[in-house]
Amino acid sequence: MSKEELVLKAIEARDLAYVPYSKFAVGAALLTTSGEIYQGCNIENASFGLCMCAERNAIYNAYCHGISQDDIEALAIVADTDGPVSPCGACRQVISELFPKDAPIYLANLNGDIKETNAEELLPYAFESSDL
Ligand code: THU
Repeated sequence: MSKEELVLKAIEARDLAYVPYSKFAVGAALLTTSGEIYQGCNIENASFGLCMCAERNAIYNAYCHGISQDDIEALAIVADTDGPVSPCGACRQVISELFPKDAPIYLANLNGDIKETNAEELLPYAFESSDL
């Protein structure tokens, strides 16, 4: 699957975002090595601290279906931003633990801009289990 096709899957997920407070809809799509797609969108709550980001929902969705690091091929994240969307710090920490270090992560917007990065670039010097 091309990165453009994976971004389209993230856009499809974004359409389901529940964002009555921020109105900032985000979508994500995780591709496995066997070609399955796990999607996520951001889900907000009147108790703001309970809001959950799209990319974490996509990754947790995959893990809930038995996917682990070795099965992961790529991730696309998309929002209606001027440039490619930038994942928040909490998501970078989760990506750093649950995603392969060098698998492509496509940051995109609705204008067709796509930036390729990876977990290592998104959170250098991450706090890890080996630090405990
Ligand atoms: N959001 C995401 O879904 N992903 C990010 O990486 C950045 C922020 C969501 C959380 C909240 O629902 C809205 O965007 C505004 O912060």
